[in-house]
Amino acid sequence: MPATVVGRAPGRVNLAGEHTDYSGLPVLPIAIDRSLLVAAAPNESGLVEVHSEAFEGTARLSRTTPDEGVAAQWHGYLAGALAELTAVAPGSGARVLVTGDLPAGGGLSSSSALTVGVIAALAAAWSVDLPPEEVARLATTAERHVGVETGGMDQQVIALARAGHALRIDFLPPAVRNVPIPAGLSFVVAFSGQEAPKGGAARDAYNERVVGTRAAAVLLAHQMGFEIEADPPLLAHVADVDVVDVLAEELPEKAAARDAARTAGIDVARLTALTNAEFDPALKISIRRVARHVLSEAARVDAAEAALAAGNLKAFGAILNESHASLRDDLRCSTQALDKVCAAMRKAGALGARLTGAGFGGYAVAAVPAGNEDAVIAAAIGATGGPAFTVVPSDGLRLL
Ligand code: GLA
Repeated sequence: MPATVVGRAPGRVNLAGEHTDYSGLPVLPIAIDRSLLVAAAPNESGLVEVHSEAFEGTARLSRTTPDEGVAAQWHGYLAGALAELTAVAPGSGARVLVTGDLPAGGGLSSSSALTVGVIAALAAAWSVDLPPEEVARLATTAERHVGVETGGMDQQVIALARAGHALRIDFLPPAVRNVPIPAGLSFVVAFSGQEAPKGGAARDAYNERVVGTRAAAVLLAHQMGFEIEADPPLLAHVADVDVVDVLAEELPEKAAARDAARTAGIDVARLTALTNAEFDPALKISIRRVARHVLSEAARVDAAEAALAAGNLKAFGAILNESHASLRDDLRCSTQALDKVCAAMRKAGALGARLTGAGFGGYAVAAVPAGNEDAVIAAAIGATGGPAFTVVPSDGLRLL
């Protein structure tokens, strides 16, 4: 039996491409120098026990019926991870300890670091060789287990990132490439003071955006005279058409998924199907604005990557600001505290600032000329109380 295995899974900060991944459109995140350490020691108990310093309440989950032992929200991620591991890793039991310096529940993707770290460490403890791409794929489905129809950005960057680089991730077709961070560019992240837990209202608000983009996709395809055959239908399936931006402006402001499906002549379940959550097909949801955000944000990913490649820090900062405005006004996932902390960081010398991650609370990120970090951190703490700190683009998952 192998000895204890230790995995290090970092948090992530997204630089560009927010709320685009679940539309199959690109993202540009970094892994950061804050991480969870997951130590796993295998045994034959048939039970996976997980104790965490970052999350409260030890989990005791049966290897065969993990859902029955879920007693806290974070246990749901573990149950999802165990369910995904069933098919690939036949190990019996394990004792797992999670520590680290990645703040939990705040939007730096502690949940994905947990699922990625636990899947990688358990697989290794059970003597199964899982490539990081496969860890990311399993962790994405594991995370949907808690009812958030996440797009897969967090798990991929956490599994695959390289120090000193952002990771450009494309989903359709899948591809990743490392984008060097130019000299002179630093990143500061700042907590808004509001947690962004992936449960309750935030989960429903997130899933509403997911279904809204699917509805926009089928309505746009219908206007263009074709039907998207893939499931779920994604804005990526129509995003390449030249006139898509113009047509998107003709979408209904709001509509129920059931009415969008009727107009497009498709079964509504193709819009509302979520891995582990219900969605009300009669609920009126935002369509035009979410499409406008996602299509413009995808273009900003290309622009942000080009600005980094050219070392044009000013242009890069401006893209962050535009992204924040679009997330605030069109996708509508900002909060007053996030707006406030971004404004404070810009005023203190940041080149640009935006919310990062799903929003509805959590963290903002600022692009800062190297040397100006302290002033930006002080301004952020003055605005919302912090914490605020620099983050360094770091390596993804490592088995130590
Ligand atoms: C969360 C999800 C990601 C992504 C972001 C928004 O972090 O887990 O998949 O959708 O929100 O960009």
